[in-house]
Amino acid sequence: MTFLTVEPISFEHHRDPLGVGESEPRLSWTVATDSPGWRQQAYEIELSDGTATGRVASQESVLVPWPGAPLESRERRGARVRVHGADGSASDWSAWSHVEAGLLDPAGWRAEAAAPPLELLAEPDGHALLLRRDFNLRGPITKARLYLTAHGLYEAEINGRVVGDDVLAPGWSSYGHRLRYRTHDVTDLVGEGGNTIGATLADGWYRGRIGFLGGKTNLYGDRTALIAQLEITYADGGTEIVATDGEWRCATGPVTATSLYDGEKHDARLLPQGWSEPGFDDSSWLPADALPHDPALLVSPTGPPVRRTETLAPVEVLTSPSGRTILDFGQNIAGRLRIRVQGPPGHTVTLRHAEVLEHGELALRPLRGADALDRYTLRGDDRPEEWEPRFTTHGFRYAQVDDWPGELDPADVRAVVCHTDLRPIGDFDCSDPMLNRLHDNVRWSMRGNFVDLPTDCPQRDERLGWTGDIQVFAPTAAFLYDCAGPLTSWLADLAADQSFYGTVPHYVPSVPLKFDLSPTAAWGDAAVLVPWVLYQRTGDLGLLRAQYASMTTWVDQVDSLTGGNHLWDEGFQFGDWLDPAAPPDDPGRARTDHALVATAYHAWSARVVADTAALLGHDADAARYTELAAQVRQAFRREFVTPSGRLACDTQTAYALALCLDLLDGQEQRERAGRRLVQLVAADGHRIGTGFVGTPLICDALCSVGAYDTAYELLTQRECPSWLYPVTMGATTVWERWDSLLPDGTVNPGEMTSFNHYALGAVADFLHRTVAGLAPAEPGYRRLRIAPRPGGGLTHASARLDTPYGPAAVSWRRDGETLTVTATVPPGTSALVDLPETEPREVGAGTHEFTVK
Ligand code: BGC
Repeated sequence: MTFLTVEPISFEHHRDPLGVGESEPRLSWTVATDSPGWRQQAYEIELSDGTATGRVASQESVLVPWPGAPLESRERRGARVRVHGADGSASDWSAWSHVEAGLLDPAGWRAEAAAPPLELLAEPDGHALLLRRDFNLRGPITKARLYLTAHGLYEAEINGRVVGDDVLAPGWSSYGHRLRYRTHDVTDLVGEGGNTIGATLADGWYRGRIGFLGGKTNLYGDRTALIAQLEITYADGGTEIVATDGEWRCATGPVTATSLYDGEKHDARLLPQGWSEPGFDDSSWLPADALPHDPALLVSPTGPPVRRTETLAPVEVLTSPSGRTILDFGQNIAGRLRIRVQGPPGHTVTLRHAEVLEHGELALRPLRGADALDRYTLRGDDRPEEWEPRFTTHGFRYAQVDDWPGELDPADVRAVVCHTDLRPIGDFDCSDPMLNRLHDNVRWSMRGNFVDLPTDCPQRDERLGWTGDIQVFAPTAAFLYDCAGPLTSWLADLAADQSFYGTVPHYVPSVPLKFDLSPTAAWGDAAVLVPWVLYQRTGDLGLLRAQYASMTTWVDQVDSLTGGNHLWDEGFQFGDWLDPAAPPDDPGRARTDHALVATAYHAWSARVVADTAALLGHDADAARYTELAAQVRQAFRREFVTPSGRLACDTQTAYALALCLDLLDGQEQRERAGRRLVQLVAADGHRIGTGFVGTPLICDALCSVGAYDTAYELLTQRECPSWLYPVTMGATTVWERWDSLLPDGTVNPGEMTSFNHYALGAVADFLHRTVAGLAPAEPGYRRLRIAPRPGGGLTHASARLDTPYGPAAVSWRRDGETLTVTATVPPGTSALVDLPETEPREVGAGTHEFTVK
């Protein structure tokens, strides 16, 4: 008897499908079976409103169209599925799973924007403000939903209890175009009789200081405001809405200053006890101003919010040469501290954060204009007090604790890791502990830099959605975590900002800082390449459809810039940013010509857009972009490639681009280029010679010409610059620079030196695809490519991934001359197995073992 079960349906890329923005959310499911080669032949879906598809002959199980009438605003419907296999097997129905729509129509919003009155807006201090409102419920209730967002950051409370577990809500989007609201089920927080809803409101990204070179404040407006709509359903079927309006009352609270960069000051003596509970006297509070806002901008999230995902205890208490107490948490993170402290009223504890120590003291210089300083002033009423700042985060491994009352017990301090609550889906392991640590560091840098949006770094006065960083890191990101939801939202912001600013901004959301906005290769190409990577990894064709205009607009813009010769050789470029040969104070001074990088990227994006157009059935576009890609490729060769396959720039990055992006002509040129690349890497002592652009490609380029040994020498190199050099220096995250910490233990003198930047960690994708050997051969891993290339003295390696079709895994082990490979191919998929020294072959679903002598 075949064992066959279907997991409950999931909706779009949601982790928690409450308050979704899609009226016809697409459905996905996976099956578990012991039947080798299992393929789905048909499915049946039932919705809880009675819709039944009957038996649909289809192999599709990923992002299948919604089969019933569209959801109405607020409507909740269940869905379940059962499947039939090509082998005649049939599953039972899956368990029901439910999806609930948010406010799909702007007309559903009654809430005004309740803004604390101008008297309370203490500028530039960043005081967080309290808003509250009492309300009465006339009878027992069956359901309560809170639709919630803000201009600024909020934390809401109902009857003294915090609503939800979001951190830094509503996150940062292109507020002028899209502001995300969250839907909370608050049925258990309200009840018949008197109730109170309140919120703390902070400046955050909306009004607080953002950006480098001094940054700017009031970027989106000079008034913070809460937008909240509480919808009650009574047991008798009646409904009621309590929404933000001029009836809400406002006051200052205990948070006397808070800023994303500078940290938070909290004076516990200023907390109005019971302020978010009924019966509190708010007669001295001031009425909110009810400001208009555009409900058409309010959108439901496509991914999970930022949450507290882990807490870390200090691993060591250090006393610095100057006598300071410094806690080492053993791991560089994004987050903040939680303390438990007891002491006299009015006493203030100070917490400072840093990623590294220099000469035994906190290295604060890399934070540039971010103070990363939290202060807690005690209430002091003979009880331990617990505190964690709420509207700030820091990038840190070390924390200096000043003015702790009495002896500091390290058990009273925890580091709270905060980031987008992504579902981990992929992992890697091998026999080299240094490579494993590198991989862990990549994961931690992703955790540190998916703080609602994909950022460059979590610590200094920056933390922006730099497009180039996620462009190079997207393949790794999409393997480690299910990040399609958050990136779908970020790409919508990219498209919105692209239309608004007339090009793809350098960082998204874009805010006008002292920086010229001009189209830039590898950064702007995020518009094309990030959606494409997500399509490859998730099979989400809808995302390509949604981004299509943004993708084509980008390529068209670059085409118009390059004029008739198709060379992109004018204007500002970041180029192969942070080439290890670039001087510390001039990270853009790479050895590879900016024009070569830019033209290569143009050819790449044009080809991807051509492929996208073909997939979406835009045949005329497909032909046009295919032609354009060919022309750019030809222009690249004419300008940068000698007939025998040498490049005009004799650099690792130039050869990596030419080989990986298929810019050379025929096998002879490829082989010549490959030989030259191997020579260059050897001449550099097998040390890395690439910046942001070449780094994700160099190992693939070497392997594409059969130079596996050179790729492994580069990968396992420990001398600076290399991927493992930071590991030898005790790194727990990926650094911005190859030498953020110099071999003598001092911090790189460049003013831009972060210890938590994921871009150079893009090599993890090579670990997954080539070292372990698990890659997509078709979009969404509907067909896998299982092609490990053991080397570098490794005796085993493995990777596993929850693909859209279910768990896949590859692991290999070398015993003397024997290589044993085990592969798990998910139901409904097949795999191309391509092992060293053997003919490639196709296998179906199931677990397979191969031995190669
Ligand atoms: C950021 C980068 C970014 C770069 C632009 C830096 O300040 O931290 O990661 O991509 O500027 O080249």
